[in-house]
Amino acid sequence: MIVKLLLDRKREGGELAPEEIRALVEAYTRGDVPDYQMAAFAMAVCCRGMSAAETHALTDAMQHSGECLTWPGPSADKHSTGGIGDKLSLVIQPLAASCGLSVPSLAGRGLGLTGGTVDKLESIPGYNACLSLDDFRRVVAACGVSIAAQTAEIAPADKKLYALRDVTGTVPSIPLIVGSILSKKLAEGADTLVFDVKCGSGAFMKTRADACALARALVDGAQAAGRKAAALVTAMDEPLGRTIGNALEVEEALAVLTGGNSREGRACRDLNGQDARCPSDVVDLSVELAARMVALEKGAGIDEARAACRANLANGAAYARFAEMVKLHGGDLDAFAARPRGETRVVAAQRAGFVARVDAEGIAKAAFELGAGRAKAGDAIDFAAGVTLAVARGDHVTAGQPLAELAACDRLEKLPEAERLVREAITLADEPPAPRPLILESLS
Ligand code: URA
Repeated sequence: MIVKLLLDRKREGGELAPEEIRALVEAYTRGDVPDYQMAAFAMAVCCRGMSAAETHALTDAMQHSGECLTWPGPSADKHSTGGIGDKLSLVIQPLAASCGLSVPSLAGRGLGLTGGTVDKLESIPGYNACLSLDDFRRVVAACGVSIAAQTAEIAPADKKLYALRDVTGTVPSIPLIVGSILSKKLAEGADTLVFDVKCGSGAFMKTRADACALARALVDGAQAAGRKAAALVTAMDEPLGRTIGNALEVEEALAVLTGGNSREGRACRDLNGQDARCPSDVVDLSVELAARMVALEKGAGIDEARAACRANLANGAAYARFAEMVKLHGGDLDAFAARPRGETRVVAAQRAGFVARVDAEGIAKAAFELGAGRAKAGDAIDFAAGVTLAVARGDHVTAGQPLAELAACDRLEKLPEAERLVREAITLADEPPAPRPLILESLS
């Protein structure tokens, strides 16, 4: 393989053969292709795209650059492209396990405005997300579900290539994103994969067309690799649920997992005194995604799967899986309930009106200022920090009524700036906004 000739061909819009892509990825992973040539390859792909066959070859080569897990019996996982207030993995993974699936779920830490799934779980004192693959297998075998941090053995080629893409302006390319996401999910071994592709101001994909293209490519790629797959494209212009911030989101997930009956529902209260501990967007989307995992993997009808999921939220079966998973990871939910909550500040409406917009990105910036995210790998996170919304799009408020509550332990000096950001993110208008659907597309 002469790498320069492959780069010449890709730069001119030509197609590479699967064996050429495999050889390139293998050589890069071994250290035989330097970063500057791989960066040129990534840029050529960004500019010229890849055929379905090339994308499949890239995915396959990255998947097989490390260990590939297998699971006995039915298994499924859900992947979200990430959004503000997206705590759905904390609900969906144990919910699907409670319906009889093995749910091996390797997740990431967040870089950017808010924490990732692993950060959220690490806000539970003692929760060890860094399991060996053997311990990961043991936890899944014992309680049906484990949410753990990505390990070095899974798709090491992606780890190396993603770090390079991150600093060379080559992240936004659908074939590269598909290769990156799918190589990890396929190596994780679940038989069914369900994708939640977010679209809007708080998402990686800003337009519906881009989000649909990514969703289609993920489903096609997973099916080409022999898995069952489906995707929803969902709105991410407003935050999901009422909480944005690591421990706050765990509280909200606990409230949803217990049908609103958790002692942890407290911080998910509607600050205006209404019962909003289980925001319907979180419940409905969790049920839709988990039901697709169950329906695809068990060959059940979607209505039957939805009914089973709703029943397992209401009867405590999903919560029992979550609590067992936390225990097996060393986490302590009693200590979580008793954790320091930091200082809080209520942001009140300065006028009456309808909530026309709650800008996801603006709210995330406020949570970030308070310490809920990290600017670079290794930065510390304040788990207590974040924003609890008291209103959602379409609500009517009177002047002085709470719009949101801010919380912080470490960065109290940032409360005024966070308040300004929250005010800017919440638009009040004289007329109610037209309703907007949460689920934009469903693909299989
Ligand atoms: N998430 C990933 O895992 N990879 C990408 O390339 C983009 C988002």
